[in-house]
Amino acid sequence: MNAGELRKKYIDFFVSKGHAQIQGKSLLPENDPTVLFTTAGMHPLVPYLLGEEHPAGKKLVNYQKCIRTGDIDSVGDSSHLTFFEMLGNWSLGDYFKEGAIGMSFEFLTSPQWLNIPLEKLGVTVFQGDTSVPRDEESAALWKKLGIPENRIAYLPRKDNWWGPAGTTGPCGPDTEMFYYTGEAPCGSECKPGCSCGKWLEIWNDVFMQYNKNTSGEYEPLERKCVDTGMGIERTVTILSGKVSVYDTEIFTPIIAAIETACGCKYGKDSEKDRSIRIIADHIRSSVFILGDPKAVTPSNVGAGYVLRRLIRRAVRHGRKISGEGIEFSKIATVIIELFGIAYPELEKNRAFLLGELEKEQSKFMETLQKGEHEFEKLLPNLLKDPRKIMSGRLAFNLYDTYGFPIELSEELAAEHGMTINREEFDEAFKKHQELSRSQSGQTFKGGLGDQGDMAVKYHTATHLLHQALRMTLGQHVGQKGSNITAERLRFDFSHDTPMTTEQIKMVEDIVNQQIQKNLTVFIETMGLEEAVSSGAIALFGEKYESQVKVYTIGNSSSDFFSKEVCGGPHVEKTGTLGKFQIKKEQSSSAGVRRIRAILS
Ligand code: ALA
Repeated sequence: MNAGELRKKYIDFFVSKGHAQIQGKSLLPENDPTVLFTTAGMHPLVPYLLGEEHPAGKKLVNYQKCIRTGDIDSVGDSSHLTFFEMLGNWSLGDYFKEGAIGMSFEFLTSPQWLNIPLEKLGVTVFQGDTSVPRDEESAALWKKLGIPENRIAYLPRKDNWWGPAGTTGPCGPDTEMFYYTGEAPCGSECKPGCSCGKWLEIWNDVFMQYNKNTSGEYEPLERKCVDTGMGIERTVTILSGKVSVYDTEIFTPIIAAIETACGCKYGKDSEKDRSIRIIADHIRSSVFILGDPKAVTPSNVGAGYVLRRLIRRAVRHGRKISGEGIEFSKIATVIIELFGIAYPELEKNRAFLLGELEKEQSKFMETLQKGEHEFEKLLPNLLKDPRKIMSGRLAFNLYDTYGFPIELSEELAAEHGMTINREEFDEAFKKHQELSRSQSGQTFKGGLGDQGDMAVKYHTATHLLHQALRMTLGQHVGQKGSNITAERLRFDFSHDTPMTTEQIKMVEDIVNQQIQKNLTVFIETMGLEEAVSSGAIALFGEKYESQVKVYTIGNSSSDFFSKEVCGGPHVEKTGTLGKFQIKKEQSSSAGVRRIRAILS
């Protein structure tokens, strides 16, 4: 079975059960500053899960494009993906556990639908804790339908509770359906979670009974809802009897295009295969991000930053499997053809997305070429070293001046029988980190040299302003510069047109509300990928350290108003800032506006 057939079956089944098919939404969430991408089918439906009437009714079904980049470093193995499609059905106050489980069972096992043998299925249910009881009802429903007791695992909150990623919103216990990917379960007690590791989750029915509010409390929802999600890629993999998603029809045409582009064969060399899978996944995600009606372009901020990382990583792996690098447009064209029927926006935005992909690729290739050219200039001297060790300092200069990745310096060095003194590189890198941390205080966050109390307050106000501007004007707003004195803040940001009086007022109101809420400012240190995928805005171009400081302003580090990668310092509570007022809004340069604001 391929993805198209599965999408059709799922929709047909739920339509036959009285559901209305609704359109999937953009990959870039609307009005939600807490995530960069739509991460599940329920995401665009949150207002309806919380009680709003949906115009299409109480029973809905669709397929939704999703991006999750938390595991980006694992992409390249046989299963991880950054882009995936989710099938989902919803009950907005209509059926609950019995209806949801009954329909899931029928769709999975009925010969007319997926026809999965009962002995291949296992399920998990919530084991209960101090605030919510064990889900005996779901377990009993599964048993009644024929799932034997020894294939039902009771698991804790970390496995069987679902809510939107690390934030507020509708949530509840869930029951998950698993497929046994081996021959037959490894023993009479082999059930999902078994150490044999062969159970693969394919579908999740969430019983939304609570709203997690901004104080982290669980309020019962007035209307109980069901939210389900079936992963298309995984389900197609098991239904086609494959082990890896990359061996299914979802990916084989993409991989064939990469084989043609690089003149190599998939399945011959495990290192090359890994690169091919990374290119296939990353270009697929990039095509969907660029082909979205609300497309972002590669940049150093937010979703644009993730897109840039995806494309650049694909470029690097392209060069790994083919010295010259491979052209992405043919691969992207195959992706548009594969998914264009289900997602017509890809076809519509074809010219734009191919153009942007090409632009980012050539920009990065240029960086790489410059770095290589410089490396070659260094070479005669390097070769004089009888130990064949290149100084880490020199490699760092290539990185610092040309953005030339250390891995590539290492590759080039290896081609000439040399190694790089990695310790020295790491040391130089660390020093640079410390320097840029203290400098970021000076140049980006403006004159924090003295770090007087007022300057620190203005610094925190700048984060609130940045987020308020993004909420009022749109996610294209990015910081272009900042300068702080003890008397005022000055903030430059990307935006084309003068702000209206209403917009200025709205921004002031949003900032003042956050001050009145007396939110806490949290500091965490984490990997850059983790920071960006948890919703942090990254600002200073690409020369980030691998570990960065993240400042979060909110109720907790997951329930927040603003989150930025930043060197600090900041106040501890927003209540200390006083009243925020915008004094002036003017043009700074082409496409950049400037705001001066004071606290009083
Ligand atoms: N929203 C649920 C999930 O993503 C169904 O697993």
